[in-house]
Amino acid sequence: MKFNERVFSGMQPTGSLHLGNYLGAMLKWIDLQKTHECIYCVVDLHAITVWQDPEELRRSIRQVTAAYMAAGLDPEKSILFNQSQVSAHAELAWIFNCVARLGWLNRMTQFKEKAGKDRENASVGLYAYPNLMAADILAYRATHVPVGDDQKQHLELARDIAQKFNNDFGDSIRAAGYEDGEFFPQPEPVIVGPATRVMSLRDGTRKMSKSEPSDLSRINLTDDNDAISKKIRKAKTDPEALPGETDGLAGRPEADNLVGIYAALAGIAKSEVLSEFGGRQFSDFKPALADLCVAQLGPIADEARRLMDDPAEIDRVLVDGADRARRIADPILGEAKEIIGFIRSSS
Ligand code: AMP
Ligand code: TRP
Repeated sequence: MKFNERVFSGMQPTGSLHLGNYLGAMLKWIDLQKTHECIYCVVDLHAITVWQDPEELRRSIRQVTAAYMAAGLDPEKSILFNQSQVSAHAELAWIFNCVARLGWLNRMTQFKEKAGKDRENASVGLYAYPNLMAADILAYRATHVPVGDDQKQHLELARDIAQKFNNDFGDSIRAAGYEDGEFFPQPEPVIVGPATRVMSLRDGTRKMSKSEPSDLSRINLTDDNDAISKKIRKAKTDPEALPGETDGLAGRPEADNLVGIYAALAGIAKSEVLSEFGGRQFSDFKPALADLCVAQLGPIADEARRLMDDPAEIDRVLVDGADRARRIADPILGEAKEIIGFIRSSS
C-alpha cells in the first residue's frame, strides 16, 4: 500500500518544557505544519507510567498544550489533543503488547535509565511504554515522526512492531484487500537540524533534561529574561576562543552545545555561527546567545501565560482535536481488529 505522508508526534505533560524540547521537537513540529498533515498528542497515558499527582497532571496537560500553541502550533490546521480522550491508543497498545517480544523491550535503554536500580518496583506500564508509543503512531498510519535523538530506539521498535504485525497477519491483511500485505507503514524518524540533542548547560556530556536536579542546567520555557541571561552567563565553557570551523568543536562539548543552540535558534548552520564568532571569546558570544534566547522564548512564555488564564478554552481545543483524531484512528483500529479475527461491534 502506498501510504500518504502523515506526521505524528507526542509530548509528555510532566514538569516544565525546556530548551531541549523546544529545539529538539517543538520547532520542527511547527515547521512541518506548513507542508504536512500533522497530528500532535499530549501523551497523558504515558505520563502515568510514573505516579502523577492528579491536580498537577491536569494542570500540566493544559500547560503543555498552551506552550505548544504559544510557540505557533495552530490547532485549526493541525490536530492537537490529549491521548486519554482517544481510546484507540490504549486498545491498539494492548494488541501491540501481544505483538512485541519481551526481548525487544529488554533492550530499551530509556526503561533502564528511568527504572534505575529499583527495577522490580517500576510499573508494568513503564516497561510497556514503547508499545503504547508505537500504537500512538500507527493508529494514524503516520509515516513521519519528528522527535529528539533520545527517541530513536523507540521509533525502531515501532517499525519492528509494524513489520511483525504485517508478517504475522499477512494472509488476513491480503484477504482484507491489501494486496502487498502492508497494513501498517514503517514510520520514519525525523531527527534533523543542529540541536537534536541539547546538552545540559552545566555539563556538555549530559542531556538537558527536566529530571536534572540543578535548574541552572536547563532553560525552561517559563524562565523570565533575567533567569535566561543568568543561566547562559553561568553556563560551563572552556577557556579557548571559539573556533573558525565546525571541526574545531570536536572534543569541546560545551562549546559545541552553545554553538548548536545559537544555530538552531537563529535558523542557521553551526558553520555560519562560527564564521561570525570564530576567534571570539565566550564573553562576547554569551551575551549574543542570551539576547537571541530571550527574544525567542520571552514572547512564547507570555502568550502561554495568557492562554493559561482561560483553561476552558484550552479544554475546548483538546476536545475538538480528540474528535478529529478519533475520526482517523477508529476506522484504522476497526480494520486491525478484523484482521486479527475479532468480531466487530455494530457501531
Ligand atoms: P520529553 O520531554 O521527554 O517528553 O520529550 C519531548 C520531546 O523533546 C521529544 O521529542 C524528545 O526527543 C525531545 N527532547 C527532550 N529533551 C531533549 C534534548 N535535551 N535535546 C533535544 N530534544 C529533546
Ligand atoms: N516517548 C516520547 C518522549 O518521551 C513521547 C511520545 C509518546 C511520542 N508517543 C509518541 C513521540 C509518539 C513521538 C510519537 O518524548
